[in-house]
Amino acid sequence: MTVTAAVTSREGEEIIAELIARGPHPDPYALYDRLRAISPVVYSEDNGKWYVTGYDEVAEVHMKHQALGQGKVPAPKRDPRYHESAYLQFLPRMTPWIDQPEHTRLRKLFAPAFSARRINSLADSIRSRVNSLLDVSEKGSRPDLVADVAEKVPISTICDLLGLPEQIKGIGLEWAQAMAELILVPLNALSDTELARGNEVISQSSAYFDEVIAERRRNPGDDLLSAFVRAEEDGDRMTSEEMVSLAFQLFIAASETSVGTMSMGVLWLLRNPEQLALLRQKPDLGKAAVEEYLRYDAPVQINLARIALEDVTVGGIPIPQGAVVSPVLGAANRDSRKFADPHRFDITRNPQHLSFGRGIHLCVGAPLARLQVSIAVETIINRYPHLALDGEPDLRGSAGLRALANLPVKFH
Ligand code: HEM
Repeated sequence: MTVTAAVTSREGEEIIAELIARGPHPDPYALYDRLRAISPVVYSEDNGKWYVTGYDEVAEVHMKHQALGQGKVPAPKRDPRYHESAYLQFLPRMTPWIDQPEHTRLRKLFAPAFSARRINSLADSIRSRVNSLLDVSEKGSRPDLVADVAEKVPISTICDLLGLPEQIKGIGLEWAQAMAELILVPLNALSDTELARGNEVISQSSAYFDEVIAERRRNPGDDLLSAFVRAEEDGDRMTSEEMVSLAFQLFIAASETSVGTMSMGVLWLLRNPEQLALLRQKPDLGKAAVEEYLRYDAPVQINLARIALEDVTVGGIPIPQGAVVSPVLGAANRDSRKFADPHRFDITRNPQHLSFGRGIHLCVGAPLARLQVSIAVETIINRYPHLALDGEPDLRGSAGLRALANLPVKFH
């Protein structure tokens, strides 16, 4: 590929190398600023990829979905291991990998099931679950808000939503965590051991969801899977394979992202005591505060890469057909051209962040994520007026998907 514009400098290559080293960077935001200062849209020769770090430019990548998508033969299908790998076969069945018009067809079938009524009806059970988990955590010798609370809430909520039994939560969380680790590993860096783990998770989860969906076809209830079974648009319906993939995609999409936002929200409030005091004093700021947790430390830092399906411009910079383009959501959210004083954590700003993406693949679970995070954080901070950190938390994940590994706290 001959690239004539926006090739990054040696300094830019070093910044990118530091950012995408495996594991999440402790402070990627200063690096994003330096990279954006070179250009909000840069090509890395070392990685053969474009990195987009400006707010408007990241939004543009998402909105130009006809020119920037996955194409007819997405990357996993081109991998020589595709035909033997349940994991590689699963990836392109996830909806962010599917372009229009197929995506429009599927989205029309599944999105209506996420009705406000269905999501809001979960509020009381989320609140009582958070309280019971805190009852146990506060009796423990080393309370950890990640392991004790944040990890347990989203998996339980998604199981409730899908109408799955209590017993599946343990293995469900293992599947979701394994996938969270694997999914952002670039395919060319995916080792055989990682691939084998991915294959195992997909085979087990698909066998499980196959059975559940067959049962829902026989006995539909009031849960989300039954709504998928019933969904019909212009005489069209989802196939069983589509439902199995979607059900497991929800498991993956709902877990680590929500764990990250809940625990990061509490962390940044504790590190900014005046903001915590403000939230306790004005609980009406709860919804705006959730938007700031999402902007300030987004769980999905680097969104799924798009392929230029034709020559296209982003921020006025020409990108040639075939190029791989990575939208860096975490950087867009800290762009000073969009947000005043972007590195200040401020729960009153109610920002229009890009943490749920934008355009045709905009996160369908955003209302559920917002509900869970606001209830969990509100419950924790109001129940413990003297809540404090009890040591520095660790990070987990990758350059693309970021969460806390633990959040040690003192309740009293
Ligand atoms: C804080 C929590 C969450 C974050 C930060 C988040 C983030 C995202 C992002 C960035 C996308 C866009 C992907 C793309 O453009 O390639 C997305 C899509 C999606 N999310 Fe979420 N998500 C969260 C929670 C959830 C939950 C709770 C669910 C389900 C219950 C969910 C289900 C989905 C689905 C199905 C899509 C694909 C939509 C499509 O392709 O049309 N997410 N999410």
